[in-house]
Amino acid sequence: MAKNITNKKLAVLTSGGDASGMNACVRTVVRYGLNHGFEVYGVKHGYSGLVNDEVIRMDYGSVSNSVHAGGTLLKTSRCPEFKEKEVMLKAVNNLLNRDIGNLIVIGGDGSFRGVEDMHENTELNVIGVPGTIDNDMGYTDYTIGFDTACNTVIDAILKLRDTITSHDRIMILEVMGRDSGNIALNSAVAGGAEYVIVPEAPADVDEIAKSVKRGFDKGKTSTIILLAEGKNYLKDELIQKVAAATNRRVNHMALGYMQRGGIPTMSDRVLAARMAQRAVDLIECGQSGRVVGVRGGDIYDTTVLEALRIPKEFDEGLYKLAMVISK
Ligand code: F6P
Repeated sequence: MAKNITNKKLAVLTSGGDASGMNACVRTVVRYGLNHGFEVYGVKHGYSGLVNDEVIRMDYGSVSNSVHAGGTLLKTSRCPEFKEKEVMLKAVNNLLNRDIGNLIVIGGDGSFRGVEDMHENTELNVIGVPGTIDNDMGYTDYTIGFDTACNTVIDAILKLRDTITSHDRIMILEVMGRDSGNIALNSAVAGGAEYVIVPEAPADVDEIAKSVKRGFDKGKTSTIILLAEGKNYLKDELIQKVAAATNRRVNHMALGYMQRGGIPTMSDRVLAARMAQRAVDLIECGQSGRVVGVRGGDIYDTTVLEALRIPKEFDEGLYKLAMVISK
């Protein structure tokens, strides 16, 4: 939807959990934006920085040497207060007082709620770009940071396999994803984990324990169970039952924040650049309240409301395949 103000001042911020590729996205917003005649600004520390007026001018050099860097050079924050209307209005006024009429927000679904609030209640033109390792947003096939996070998990599987094979052990590797099993499922398939437990599908711990035992009886020398954080409450029961069934040591490790950082993959960098380009194009057309996504390899945009409404579909087919090929 177009609003009354169309100006050539554009701000960008990163919000929520950092995700590798956010810098590649900011870099394209800055350079493509400058190339299209915008004055470009960065807001430090996400929505908190918007509230506290942490706005800096950006030029080509501000994003030098950043395409390969993990984290976010603009820094980020979680800012629950942004849900309060007065806080949000104060934050937006900080931009409007500088005559900045456009904002691109790179973040996950919590950040997109802020996009909708700003779009609905202020004159600012606001566009969202999905940046989160969780890949838990239904309107887009991929979010920036997901591919890098999965590759980190796959690398961990490879290394842990050395140790557990040497000791004939079982490893429960817990991975992030909040309520989504996407990181766990994709990493299990790509990394060759024997079992994957995700919030989207039921898990029978007794059956898993028996199955792990059958595997060792048939000559297996190691087993990796990928446990999505949304099913973390099964951890103790799993350790106890698998150890009892196999009479082997079961290790547990949460990979944690290792998954958030690190050098972004080619795939995340290119996705970030393409999405940033569309976001600037939308701003240039005076659009607001829209978010950028990717479907079947094509970049597209939709309303933020629609994006927040569409639930992430669980890939049942991939899950069934994982069950077949992993044992
Ligand atoms: O949304 C990304 C994510 O890493 C989730 O996978 C995880 O549940 C959460 O953020 C952790 O959040 P925080 O950085 O606030 O501990």
